[in-house]
This record gives sequence, structure tokens and C-alpha cells, in this order.
Amino acid sequence: MEHLLSPLDSILVILPALAANGSPVLLRYKGTPIDRGVRLPDGRPLLGPGKTWEGLIIGFLYGSVIAFLLSALTCSPLIFYAGVLASLGALLGDILGAFIKRRLGLARGAPAPVLDQLDFYSGVLYLLYVAHIVLDPRIILGFAPIIIILHRATNVAAHRLRLKPVPW
Ligand code: CTP
Ligand code: MG
Repeated sequence: MEHLLSPLDSILVILPALAANGSPVLLRYKGTPIDRGVRLPDGRPLLGPGKTWEGLIIGFLYGSVIAFLLSALTCSPLIFYAGVLASLGALLGDILGAFIKRRLGLARGAPAPVLDQLDFYSGVLYLLYVAHIVLDPRIILGFAPIIIILHRATNVAAHRLRLKPVPW
């Protein structure tokens, strides 16, 4: 069955994904790399040390907790299900983004405008789409610039809080 979410529900599903994407920075650059240091024939890391198992777990937990709270507030099980999926999509999209950055020869943490901000968002939309959950198109488009600004702002904040060595 296909679920076309209302504008408000669409926002409630994107919020957990933002939490999932933003929380791994709390690890302060520590953690066990998912790629175990593996390099591809191009000599570059598969994903690099910025994608860790701990980051996946913390992101998934934060995203799921937010999804749970929002679904409890709205008495909607679909918001929980979709929010958890969106969180997973955000983390997978971010990993795909890191894979692409490494293939382009960009080191962990090097800025990749657009890709850095929208890799996780594409993952969110893709995973929801696969699960037949369609967000309101106006919210999808409207959130893109908001996400770019939020990404900038949270990275500057994380840098000031000394969670991240670079402000992007
Ligand atoms: N992080 C993690 N595991 C993840 C995602 C993120 O441990 N699955 C942590 C890493 O310490 C990472 C930080 O959160 O450096 C910030 O995430 P992000 O900005 O996505 O990574 P970058 O440092 O920009 O690294 P990359 O170039 O690989 O995207
Ligand atoms: Mg990233």
C-alpha cells in the first residue's frame, strides 16, 4: 500500500532523520571504522575513518527515539515506522556520500558542497520511496534549502563546541 503523507506528517518524518544525521558527531571523531581501513584499487579508503559502527548505532538510536516521541505525540504508528526508516536512510545516504567523496579523492572531513548536505537527504527519500512512503513534494523541496542552512549552522556549532576540528 502506498502512503502519501500530509505536509505536517512529512515534516515529522524528516525530523528523526536530521537527528540521525547530526548525532554521530557527538563521538568526537572516535569509533571503529566500518571499512576497517580497507582501500580500493584507486589507493583510497573505501569509506574513510569518519564512518563508524558507533556512529551508525548512535544515529539510529537518536533518530528512533525522536521518531518514537513524535509518533506518541501524534498517536500515529506510521510516523514511528517512517521515522525509523528515514533515520536508517539518512545514515546509509551519508555512507554513500562518503564513498563518493573518497572516489573523488576527497579526504575525510573535506568539504564537498551539495554532496555533504544532500547525501543523507537522498538516502532518506530513497529508502522511504522503496517502502512506498511518499512525502509531500512541497515539503521535500522546501526542506532542501533548510537542510543546507541547518547543516552549515550545526557544523559551525559543533566546531565551536570542539566536537569537530573543522567548521564544515
Ligand atoms: N560519524 C561516525 N559514523 C557515521 C557518521 C558520522 O562516526 N556513520 C562521525 C565521524 O566522527 C564524522 C562525524 O561524525 O567525522 C561527522 O560526520 P560527517 O560530517 O558526515 O563526516 P565527515 O567528517 O565530513 O567525513 P566524510 O568526509 O567521510 O563525510
Ligand atoms: Mg557527510
